[in-house]
Amino acid sequence: MLSCSFLLFPALYLSSALAASEFNWQTVKPSTKLTWTPCYEGFQCARLQTTPPQYRGPLLFNPGGPGGSGVDAVVGSGAAFATVFGPQFDIVGFDPRGVSYSTPAISFFKTDVERELLIPSAASIVYPSLNASSTALNQEWAHWQLVGQLAAARNNGDYLRHMTTDNVARDMLRITEAFGYEKLQYWGISYGSVLGAMFASLFPVIGRLIIDGVFDMDAYYSANLTPQMADTDKTLQTFFDGCATAGPTDCAFHAPSASAISRNLDTLTASIRDQPLAVVTPTSHGIVDFVFLLNAVLNALYVPYDAFASLAQGLTDLAAGNATTLYAQSAVPTFECACNASAVPFHLNNLEAYMAVACGDATPVEDSIPHLQRYYEDGLKMSSFADLLSSTRVLCSGWKIHREGRFRGPVGAQNTSFPLLVVGNTFDPVTPLAGAAKTAKSFPGSALLTQDSIGHTTFTTPSLCTFAYFRAYFVNGTLPAPGTVCAVDTPLFPPSSSGAARKRDAEAEELLEAGRTIRGVVRRIAGRRAL
Ligand SMILES: *[C@@H]1O[C@H](CO)[C@@H](O)[C@H](O)[C@H]1NC(C)=O
Ligand SMILES: *[C@@H]1O[C@H](CO)[C@@H](O)[C@H](O)[C@H]1NC(C)=O
Ligand SMILES: *[C@@H]1O[C@H](CO)[C@@H](O)[C@H](O)[C@H]1NC(C)=O
Ligand SMILES: *[C@@H]1O[C@H](CO)[C@@H](O)[C@H](O)[C@H]1NC(C)=O
Ligand SMILES: *[C@@H]1O[C@H](CO)[C@@H](O)[C@H](O)[C@H]1NC(C)=O
Repeated sequence: MLSCSFLLFPALYLSSALAASEFNWQTVKPSTKLTWTPCYEGFQCARLQTTPPQYRGPLLFNPGGPGGSGVDAVVGSGAAFATVFGPQFDIVGFDPRGVSYSTPAISFFKTDVERELLIPSAASIVYPSLNASSTALNQEWAHWQLVGQLAAARNNGDYLRHMTTDNVARDMLRITEAFGYEKLQYWGISYGSVLGAMFASLFPVIGRLIIDGVFDMDAYYSANLTPQMADTDKTLQTFFDGCATAGPTDCAFHAPSASAISRNLDTLTASIRDQPLAVVTPTSHGIVDFVFLLNAVLNALYVPYDAFASLAQGLTDLAAGNATTLYAQSAVPTFECACNASAVPFHLNNLEAYMAVACGDATPVEDSIPHLQRYYEDGLKMSSFADLLSSTRVLCSGWKIHREGRFRGPVGAQNTSFPLLVVGNTFDPVTPLAGAAKTAKSFPGSALLTQDSIGHTTFTTPSLCTFAYFRAYFVNGTLPAPGTVCAVDTPLFPPSSSGAARKRDAEAEELLEAGRTIRGVVRRIAGRRAL
């Protein structure tokens, strides 16, 4: 376990000094205990490090995945976190066991090259479609059986068995205790909601705990992500509605009505399915086929306020035969494989970690291929993206490493020592508000805060209102009133005419900018396979 802590307060020093000048105080290391050093002539000196009274201890963060690196998240946006939550906390990013910089490093592969062949980094950002061909699901199934068998065969030290979320919850308690605190203060998004809710179930004595972009916990522990798709299509509908309202200047894919825009997207998808396009850019190359297109759309649903306008441009160019715009918008790997075995431990092991944690937490998936086919078809009743999102269960069907006695629910606690703050967007493509409401119910006394926006977790759309509630909760322990709904401060399709831009004070601008920084960093780190 490696943790990276941002100490936001300079230490205050008490000095035992005579007013002489020949002693260099900088040579004395400040300490929380008195550590004496000879100084001046015949004196002993010490520097005592004290804690400012307003200091409120560590605030742990998990960026989701599972498999996202909390260290990377805090390195990338520690200052922005402090802007949002207040300077009183140590913002602590940590890599859960098995993830990223944490040791022992886990991988099922001997080299980066082998990894790239079996789970190309592109697989982390592009979901396969189970409907790509009549045998796509069968092939996917076989692929993940192979990866799962490799993992089991190379599970040296049996570390993979111990990456389950309950163990990470125990590790979070240890980190908190190492700071000299008893009660966890935590903020977790997406899968971080599973970790946070698990913690509060196992250790109801909590300090502060915010979960945002909340899973349906029963669905998570049964590797059944269908309920997670409850609002995916509604999120897409906001693209059609917003584009129709925005007009052709601000939404390039505009048509006179939402239903016409929807039909145009269907037509485009069908045409790209028939005729995929090759793209070569100076740094990369690839094929824009219908799977790429669906992923580009799904990707935009995660971060709509950032992505809808450019998605509209990408779709328009694609409809005109130019696939470069859409291709360049996606995080496509640049083929800079280091091919360097000594670069192990793999820093990027998010898909391996995803399997070990998400599949390892859940009830083993023993479905046959026809079962999985039926599961996928049932998922279509929930969402038109089921061909992409159902692939997660197929992936888990290859996973054979499960620890006896791991926590598998039920999630909840009758009385946590402090109420949880549970947060969700009106429409989230992969963690619908229903998951937040259900989880809040399982922790009586907790508060549910709704942000009236779309996208995955509230952090994809900074809201001054939501930030004020976060800060009031962490700093003052204040909860939003039941039924509180926060508006956001960004239009879905930003108007090109700048005249309408609202004037805000510098502090508000700084907060929103901090929110955008966190969005960018978290988005890069949590990766796409982050349901
Ligand atoms: C699956 O693919 C076929 C074409 O092979 C298509 O006709 C059908 O609509 C697709 N189903 C879904 C749910 O996308
Ligand atoms: C395609 O779009 C890109 C911008 O995304 C542009 O640079 C390029 O010139 C276009 N290609 C053609 C053939 O129009
Ligand atoms: C291989 O990786 C190691 C560790 O990251 C690095 O120190 C070394 O320079 C790399 N060698 C090459 C040839 O890239
Ligand atoms: C839960 O409630 C009971 C009875 O009110 C109390 O004794 C116990 O300490 C509480 N537990 C926590 C974690 O607050
Ligand atoms: C905390 O409460 C105090 C006193 O009511 C108030 O002045 C302050 O603004 C609150 N802080 C936050 C972050 O809400």
